[in-house]
Amino acid sequence: MARLLVVDDEANLRRVLCALLGADGHAVTEAGTAGEALAALGSTEFDAVLTDQKLPDGDGLQIVTALREREPSPPVIVITAFATVELAVEAMRLGAFDFITKPFLPEAVRAAVRRAAERAELQRENARLRDEVQRLAAAGQLVGDSTPMRALRHLVARVAPSAATVLITGETGTGKELVARAVHALSARSRGPFVAINCGALAESLLESELFGHEKGAFTGATSSRAGVFEAAHGGTLLLDEIGDMPLAAQARLLRVLAENQVVRLGSTTPRPVDVRVLAATHRDLPAEVREGRFREDLYYRLAVALVNVPPLRERRDDVPLLAQGFLARFAAASGRPQLRFGPEAIAALRAHDWPGNVRELENLSERAGLLAQGDVIDESAVRAWMVPRPGGATAPAVESVSAAGEECRERWLGALPDRIELRGLLDELERELLMRALREANGVQAEAARRLGLTRSDVAYRLRKFGLGGPEGAGAPPGEGE
Ligand SMILES: Nc1ncnc2c1ncn2[C@@H]1O[C@H](COP(=O)(O)OP(=O)(O)OP(=O)(O)O)[C@@H](O)[C@H]1O
Ligand SMILES: [Mg+2]
Repeated sequence: MARLLVVDDEANLRRVLCALLGADGHAVTEAGTAGEALAALGSTEFDAVLTDQKLPDGDGLQIVTALREREPSPPVIVITAFATVELAVEAMRLGAFDFITKPFLPEAVRAAVRRAAERAELQRENARLRDEVQRLAAAGQLVGDSTPMRALRHLVARVAPSAATVLITGETGTGKELVARAVHALSARSRGPFVAINCGALAESLLESELFGHEKGAFTGATSSRAGVFEAAHGGTLLLDEIGDMPLAAQARLLRVLAENQVVRLGSTTPRPVDVRVLAATHRDLPAEVREGRFREDLYYRLAVALVNVPPLRERRDDVPLLAQGFLARFAAASGRPQLRFGPEAIAALRAHDWPGNVRELENLSERAGLLAQGDVIDESAVRAWMVPRPGGATAPAVESVSAAGEECRERWLGALPDRIELRGLLDELERELLMRALREANGVQAEAARRLGLTRSDVAYRLRKFGLGGPEGAGAPPGEGE
């Protein structure tokens, strides 16, 4: 059975076609004009369209062109009383599936519809396969075969298809954003947009405007109207990252949006309906934030409909080898050394490490390894030299502890050096590497990188110039440039 749309302005002919195709078990919808047909096509999915060529308000070929842009687009069979070769060629060129001349034999119509329905089914099958590939790819990005990781993938697959809000918790760098992307990819909204906003990175006033949008003149500097991320994520998924850092005023507004499924831009009174699935992520202990009065209890319950906790890497050490070799393979391929890998002792050392920065820290180390490794197999001492300890847990070291950390790094580095070195090259390489790392961790913000390095901003700029690195984008420049 196929869902068919029959378009003809002649009621009699429409009735004949409907009776004929209805008797074959198809579900037939009728339209008398091109306008009616396009309206029906906008609201319902059809497997095939049968249209007269001459319509009171246009032309059957218009339907063909209008549908060509659609995905999926049902095949169109054009029926005409004025069959000319030119017309047939034109119809096919525009993308018509078939062409029938009046007067027609019932069997000709039946056969054309059968072929069209088969084509539609093939198209659907293709779309299904494509979706499946996308879903597998998204799920496959969550690398790891440890028991906790399998449980996590299982949970993600279970909560994804529902419309429920999901609260994703876990330490920094554990993969919360990746989990959010997997939830989106495995949901019915996977073809819609995925939009993420970091609620902790923006000043209070800016955050509300980013979330909900604003009208021109809503505040000083609002020179034009802008949609917020809720509108941008319409039909898809919105990740509210670092939700634990959201100021209370914004929390109140957010709660209203979630309750009403509509946003009101700043400086406006017009509500705009939005269809968005919300995911939230935080490294904070939200119930504790609630107890301390920094997070609204009602919002917490509204967000935590489903809870997904991403365990720290030290609680799933079995994932370390797979992740490390995988990251290294990626970076090594990018620098033209695909044979590079971690040796068994190096892997053992990586497994034993506590990874306060979790998967991101391991990823960074692998990138360093991809850049700096000497031979094809990376040994334990090299790995230890690159494992920069970060005292004080997952966060960046406090200013007081920087010199202590520096002391410890120095000991490790000096201990790992061979007897003969190329001092100048080594110092340059180290300086360049530390600069790049600080910039990466500061998301390219030079002032923040300067703070991490204990340098002034102009000093950072000077050193970047020295290495021929104009800015964060320059980080991929070939080593040795500017020496
Ligand atoms: N299981 C995993 N498989 C492959 N890559 C991973 C995995 N988990 C994390 N990553 C990678 O590690 C990095 C950090 O992940 P992500 O940004 O998702 O962490 P996060 O928990 O959101 O961190 P933060 O709290 O700092 O925002 C990303 O580059 C991500 O691709
Ligand atoms: Mg994140």
